Amino acid sequence: MQDAVLHPPQAAPAHYEHFRLAPLTGALGAEIVGVSLANLSDAAFREIERAIADHLVLAFRDQSLEPVDQITFARRFGIVEPWPYARPMDGYPELTELVSEAGDINNFGGSWHTDSSTFAKPPAYTLLYCVTAPPVGGDTSFANQYLAWSTLPDDVRAALDGLRLEHSTARGFGDHSRSRGSTAVTSTPVSVPPGHEDLVSIHPVARTHPVTGHKALYVNSGFSSNFEGRTESESRPLMNALAAHGSIPEFTCRIRWQPGTLVIWDNRCTLHYAHNDYRGHPRIMRRAVVAGERPV
Ligand code: SIN
Repeated sequence: MQDAVLHPPQAAPAHYEHFRLAPLTGALGAEIVGVSLANLSDAAFREIERAIADHLVLAFRDQSLEPVDQITFARRFGIVEPWPYARPMDGYPELTELVSEAGDINNFGGSWHTDSSTFAKPPAYTLLYCVTAPPVGGDTSFANQYLAWSTLPDDVRAALDGLRLEHSTARGFGDHSRSRGSTAVTSTPVSVPPGHEDLVSIHPVARTHPVTGHKALYVNSGFSSNFEGRTESESRPLMNALAAHGSIPEFTCRIRWQPGTLVIWDNRCTLHYAHNDYRGHPRIMRRAVVAGERPV
């Protein structure tokens, strides 16, 4: 990576009436303070919709959200779907608790991925709320896949345009950190329902975002298994190179969690990675996903 990169809204954010927004890096992400998500006006929500389209990842600090508040906020973006790979939170089918106990070795989400790309219609947004944070560590990194696509050389983009990739649960299930049959430990109760054991969906290598109209690279080391019509071993060198390109440091931002932080990200144009560096300390998050569309 030689050329300077910038996602333009990071350097020149819009003016917002209902909150203060501070971009995190030149690539993506913004922190927002001065708004309560539990008491949100329609006008403030319209500004949040603009902000997520511009910055791709928003971290709302200093919130105090009951489970129902998180679900109500998530519903403003669309249909909130139960996530089939984990037992939902008691009384709240739309929420999954991601629990890392002090003794856990593996974590949930510890590889670069976009959520549930094995689904025919992967979730558009994920909303993650921090209940308990370790004293240090447990951050989540994000990577801008518009930049990943637009910085590929012209001839590479021309060769990739129109290609499709298979995304398969055989590469991993809900926790992204272990593959089928592993006995590695994580406290999040992930299980695979019938019908999802060998779930495969085929999506374009570059997808066009339905809101912004921009193209984003849609390759992830968590779930992408092979190019359509090619074997996994034939596909692996190019797929790995694209996945590595998609997560170079200049495309990323990193969120440090505090209890009361809610982060929303757009799965259609970002990858994320949950850092597993807080052994000996618990981390508890609540997660909701908003239904998406078939990638095109
Ligand atoms: C996820 O991969 O959805 C969870 C990320 C995290 O816990 O930081």
